[in-house]
Amino acid sequence: MKNPFSLSRRLALCASYVAQDSRLADIGTDHAYLPIALCLDNKILSAVACDIAQGPLGRAKENILRYELADKIETRLSDGLQNVKKDEIDTVVIAGMGGELIAKILSECPYIKDKSLSLILQPMTRCEKLILWLYENGFAIQHQSAVTEDGKHYTVMLVRYTGEVKTPSPLSLYLGKLSKEHDEEKTFLEHTLNRLKKQAIGDDLARIAARQLEEYLYEN
Ligand SMILES: C[S@@+](CC[C@H](N)C(=O)[O-])C[C@H]1O[C@@H](n2cnc3c(N)ncnc32)[C@H](O)[C@@H]1O
Repeated sequence: MKNPFSLSRRLALCASYVAQDSRLADIGTDHAYLPIALCLDNKILSAVACDIAQGPLGRAKENILRYELADKIETRLSDGLQNVKKDEIDTVVIAGMGGELIAKILSECPYIKDKSLSLILQPMTRCEKLILWLYENGFAIQHQSAVTEDGKHYTVMLVRYTGEVKTPSPLSLYLGKLSKEHDEEKTFLEHTLNRLKKQAIGDDLARIAARQLEEYLYEN
């Protein structure tokens, strides 16, 4: 069936990081829009659409059946990756959750430090906490971008385990791989800077990060 719906720009950015012929685990799938769109576009071979709650999984199943994709997308009750086996997948998407929850889900998966696994992560909040966890645990951000949709700012990163542990500067926790040379990434960083400035009162790390980010954004 041809792809009849278009993803939100946020989910489309996640989809753009999925390699052709991937075998996907979509953790916190809810409606399963992402694996459905990827299947309809013939981009993935299979998907395990996981959620911690039955309600969202029921919604996912209805949508999967509507698009006649039950042979390619399996729904599964799973807290994080707990019920997903390594040999079923090569790509993990975790989108639409807080950065700390995403870090927790990754930390609880015994095979996450596999260099062949692509992780596509879209934290809704506390992105810096996720980046800190990634760097301290030997993961590298290979690509990162940002989109603005309905006045909200989102970032998505493609991450892989390298084994190289980094001690990030305050700036790099907020910058990740974003660049002021791209309009939507700059908008995301400016939004982050506004947030940091509010947080800076009584928070030394936020104050230092705000100063470093302001320098990066506005001084050549
Ligand atoms: C806001 S929705 C995001 C849906 C979709 N991924 C997106 O980005 O549009 C978050 C979903 O994550 C699920 N969730 C929360 N914690 C989870 C966990 N530990 N493991 C799996 N799913 C979880 C929730 O039940 C909910 O359906």
